[in-house]
Amino acid sequence: MNPVQITKNIHWVGAVDWNSRNFHGYSMSPMGTTYNNFLILDEKVTLVDTVMSRLKDQMMCNIEQVLDGRSIDYFVCNHLELDHAGCAKDIIEKYKPERIFVSPMGQKSMQAHYHYTDWPVEVVPTGSEVSIGEHTLRFMETRMLHWPDSMFTYIPEAKLVFCNDAFGQNVASSERWADEYDRAVLEHVMKEYYANIVLPYSPVVLKTLDAIAEMQLDVEYLLPDHGLMFRGKDVAFAMDKYRDYALQKPKNKAVIVYDTMWHSTEKMAEAIAAGLASEGVCVKIMSVKANHHSRVMTEVLEAAAVLVGSPTHNNGILPLMGGMLTYMKGLRPQNKIGAAFGSFGWSGECVKALTQWLEDMNFETILDPVKTKFVPEHDTYKQCYELGRQVAGAIKQKLGE
Ligand code: FEO
Repeated sequence: MNPVQITKNIHWVGAVDWNSRNFHGYSMSPMGTTYNNFLILDEKVTLVDTVMSRLKDQMMCNIEQVLDGRSIDYFVCNHLELDHAGCAKDIIEKYKPERIFVSPMGQKSMQAHYHYTDWPVEVVPTGSEVSIGEHTLRFMETRMLHWPDSMFTYIPEAKLVFCNDAFGQNVASSERWADEYDRAVLEHVMKEYYANIVLPYSPVVLKTLDAIAEMQLDVEYLLPDHGLMFRGKDVAFAMDKYRDYALQKPKNKAVIVYDTMWHSTEKMAEAIAAGLASEGVCVKIMSVKANHHSRVMTEVLEAAAVLVGSPTHNNGILPLMGGMLTYMKGLRPQNKIGAAFGSFGWSGECVKALTQWLEDMNFETILDPVKTKFVPEHDTYKQCYELGRQVAGAIKQKLGE
């Protein structure tokens, strides 16, 4: 895609990856992704971030068009993960910037990634400012949003924040702005990105939103390094969405995530779902064979209850459920009701193992699990249906209905 002018002298010079489907090896990106980076034409020409190295040519072509014969004087590296710093070495070797700005932890990350000896790297802690002519770069560390080195760069004269990974989404598009794009799809990709990347750092999100409010930052443009960018009224829209996600306010929704061997646990999942639906709860039944773990987490984000099912396998649970729960636990979802179910042949440890996972995640495990020997029959279906109804009652209580 060609460069896009944001303000008179600030330009998008990033790259669109239409074919990305696996983001960083752990999350699916079914709609592709975009790497945003920015060039500021001023007395000191300043580049903010880069892109994934394999998309270097797209970015370089954009940079050269905007530079129109000038060079890059300053380079801001808001985050060292290689989807944003992947072309740092290429930029530094080609343009030889006089100054390179990183957060205190960014310096350590940059050293550990690039093992440089003579790069003009400067640490810019929160509140420090650098004038580049008509614009000022004001830096704000955002440690663990989502790496220790992450920072935002604010330009007061342009009312603009380069917010790196925060507020990003995995989407490839010809549009650059959220207000040009389908709103329902935008909300979905925001949720997907938050649930799989930002969720464990929700306390930092709240702290950062509060800090922005306390500093009374005037923000007209909120520019993440992934996906669509926000301007005007959409700045508040994006910040409000992030506050909601970070607070993890539950909705009238349950997710049943399970694996099955001979379909007994699957039949139990369907009976539980019928019980939940009979009480008006929105329910998603998600087999881990049919749904990638990142797809499941997108649904879990706003769910009030998560029900987990597996047959007993080798005195434990099936391996895909083990992987799913490992992933879920790492993302630290909060404020959930949990329940377990599953079939067994002879030893029947599945529900004990599943309940332990739920307790390890601090889910409220207030209801007895349901298990069945080999194939469920009418009584088991009734128990499952009743479990669904009981979870629905607990959800209503949680939501204060
Ligand atoms: Fe933390 Fe988009 O990289």
